[in-house]
Amino acid sequence: MKSLIKLHVNRDLHEIAVNSNRTLLEALRYDCHLTGTKQGCDMGDCGACTVLIDGVPIQSCITLAVECVGKEILTVEGIAKQDKPHPVQIAWNNHGASQCGYCTPGFIVVAKWLFDHNSNPTEDEIKIALSGNICRCTGYTKIISAMKETIQLMNNE
Ligand code: FES
Ligand code: FES
Repeated sequence: MKSLIKLHVNRDLHEIAVNSNRTLLEALRYDCHLTGTKQGCDMGDCGACTVLIDGVPIQSCITLAVECVGKEILTVEGIAKQDKPHPVQIAWNNHGASQCGYCTPGFIVVAKWLFDHNSNPTEDEIKIALSGNICRCTGYTKIISAMKETIQLMNNE
């Protein structure tokens, strides 16, 4: 049996009807129609479904939608501000850090979280922050380069 819940996503309120076992990932993609968050392994292993809940990265495929009532959810669609891309999105583009792009939303969300807390991370800190995200295409070199350029872009803002 479904119940009505309200989710705060990217500063908007979504009222949706969900079963108690509906994951946040399913609710975002199929009820809120925010398909930027990707469904990868569906087991908490790949990071493609990562969103921020109250500022903390979580894997939405292993989180229930009903657990997120009253919390602030940020998805990749909410990271640009007034159509101005976040510096990490610009750097990703500059470095060709996406190939198929399926992993990219999860990386961007975690990157935003990292730069919100540490504006000048070392390469090791970048690698640790991104260690829960898997990319099958790029080999990670371009991703790390994009992260380093983000630091410069943020310093120039
Ligand atoms: S789809 Fe959630 S961690 Fe892979
Ligand atoms: S760009 Fe294809 S999985 Fe990362």
